[in-house]
Amino acid sequence: MELFNLSGKRALVVGGGGDLGFAMMEGLLEAGASAVAVDIDPNVSSLTDLLSKKGFKASSLQVDITDRSAIKKSVADAEKLLNGSIDILVNSAGIQRRRPSEDYLEKDWDDVISINLTATFFYCQLVAKNMILNGYGKIINVASIMSFFGGVTIPAYAASKGGVAQLTKALSNDWASKGICVNAIAPGYIDTRLNTALINDDERSTEVLLRTPMKRWGIPNDMKGVAIFLSSPASDFISGAVLPIDGGYSAR
Ligand SMILES: NC(=O)c1ccc[n+]([C@@H]2O[C@H](COP(=O)([O-])OP(=O)(O)OC[C@H]3O[C@@H](n4cnc5c(N)ncnc54)[C@H](O)[C@@H]3O)[C@@H](O)[C@H]2O)c1
Repeated sequence: MELFNLSGKRALVVGGGGDLGFAMMEGLLEAGASAVAVDIDPNVSSLTDLLSKKGFKASSLQVDITDRSAIKKSVADAEKLLNGSIDILVNSAGIQRRRPSEDYLEKDWDDVISINLTATFFYCQLVAKNMILNGYGKIINVASIMSFFGGVTIPAYAASKGGVAQLTKALSNDWASKGICVNAIAPGYIDTRLNTALINDDERSTEVLLRTPMKRWGIPNDMKGVAIFLSSPASDFISGAVLPIDGGYSAR
């Protein structure tokens, strides 16, 4: 299917060592792209080694994205590993810190905003420079249904993800005319380690299932198809969208 073919495309997946980032990276590779995963988790290299053994063009960089100079270096290093400039950027690194808002810690606020929102902006800005020169690029930011809802005990996360949704629209307004599609996906409740606390809380877990029309938690592979779609020519007239991937949750 030419519409979904990513052969020859070069992708950078920030947070590619995470559950959703890894699934999206695998999807892009399966559609023909080559890809570099950036993650702070040292395990990221064994994950991409597994992909390379399957015959995919995958590599990794261990980077702490709270460090702006490390972000800049990682884009240059990724372009070297990919033998060229980046066509597809996925921003999937993210953290969650829970605490009642009145007791929320300054460090937790700073960490969440820095990783979820600030790093997303700087990766977009750095990668867009070459995308603008090439007149082509696809950016997928990972927002959340907490871009639409406030959540409970997660003030920094909700603020960061609301910010990611607005940032996506702002960048789309600036860059869509230059050939870059900037979109966000907004995952709902997905069964990953980020949600361990929620999944282990029987009451909250039941509430989630009762409200989700599809009556199940999402799985990381639910992100694969949408990552391929938003990276491929199939979505060439879509920019500035924030697409819920939530089993119908946000429509209720
Ligand atoms: N799991 C869900 O239900 C859900 C729902 C909505 C949105 N999201 C978002 O999806 C994205 C991926 O989440 P996930 O569920 O795969 O979680 P995850 O914890 O599996 O993945 C997040 C990745 O970010 C990396 N990371 C954290 N801090 C970093 C840093 N300082 N430098 C570099 N990398 C860093 C982690 O090492 C991890 O590999 C996040 O932005 C998250 O907010 C997840």
